[in-house]
Amino acid sequence: MDDFETTRSELKAAIDAAASREALEQIRVAALGRKGSITERMKGLGALDPDARRAAGAALNALKDEIAAAIEAAAARLSASELQARLATERIDVSLPVRPEPEGRIHPISQTIDELVAIFGEMGFTVAEGPHIEDDFHNFTALNIPPEHPARQEHDTFYLPEKPDGSRRVLRTHTSPVQIRTMLRDKPPLRIIVPGRTFRNDHDATHSPMFHQVEGLVIDKTSHMGHLKGCLIEFCRNFFDVEDLPVRFRPSYFPFTEPSAEVDIGCSRANGEFKIGAGADWLEILGSGMVHPKVLANCGIDPDEYQGFAFGMGIERIAMLKYGIPDLRTFYESDLRWLRHYGFVPLDVPSMVGGLSR
Ligand code: DAH
Repeated sequence: MDDFETTRSELKAAIDAAASREALEQIRVAALGRKGSITERMKGLGALDPDARRAAGAALNALKDEIAAAIEAAAARLSASELQARLATERIDVSLPVRPEPEGRIHPISQTIDELVAIFGEMGFTVAEGPHIEDDFHNFTALNIPPEHPARQEHDTFYLPEKPDGSRRVLRTHTSPVQIRTMLRDKPPLRIIVPGRTFRNDHDATHSPMFHQVEGLVIDKTSHMGHLKGCLIEFCRNFFDVEDLPVRFRPSYFPFTEPSAEVDIGCSRANGEFKIGAGADWLEILGSGMVHPKVLANCGIDPDEYQGFAFGMGIERIAMLKYGIPDLRTFYESDLRWLRHYGFVPLDVPSMVGGLSR
């Protein structure tokens, strides 16, 4: 019996001392496994006489149960402390600074173009493009600006060197030549916007030799001045995000449209603070009109069958107004501090459902 008690106390001590579940498993196999110490003793019972066998058998069974229960209890204790240890190492320090945001920023010009595309895209316009270097026909003549027309002087055109035949190509002075290219290439109905670079030989606080415009063109059999107005009012209110923004159409002149209108939006300059919205003042933001029949004819479109409207505006100008950017020249200085201040987070892609800008 002494031997029995020794086995018992040794096993209990080993179970108490086990530092891992693997160690516990080894103890279990050594005691209760097929060749374990308790199992071996059970096998030895057969050699005893019946009375002794009964007594020893009962004691051995009790020991077996006791050891199995002790191992189970120790396993539960060990998994609880393993969990505690894991929780301690995986602890999150909520006072640490958050992960840094992506560094890059979307330039306000790109952002504004994305917003224009989102607004006009929802109205069914697609984006068209054309070359920066144009010929006289697309930039002027086809747009009803013949040679010697005074409008040519206003454009401060950059000319390329004369070709042997005396013609000179130009850096396009507006995005309107893409109207011509589209009408010559595609059959109506047409509904395009043309965001892109334009060039004029003019450089001061409010003019840059390279700047951006967006052009719009709608050609079909039925579009009229009412559609032009509805489309541009909708655009202005969406772009400036002012639901009741006053919009005014003022008679004007462009060679390529007849009638023509300039579009003003309401603003106030009370107390030296400029604000877009209802107020005492107006601010011109774009030019527009019904496409001139001569322009349609120049592109092989029958003006007796087709009509439509066009518009054009400066992208820097509307970006400066919307985002309160005071100086045009800063757009092109590639100053990272400026870009961090006025730029946009790349993943905030403008959309009519998700919002234009945040
Ligand atoms: N091309 C004009 C400019 O550069 C802008 C413009 C005005 C475009 C009226 C148009 C329009 O299509 O209809 O000043």
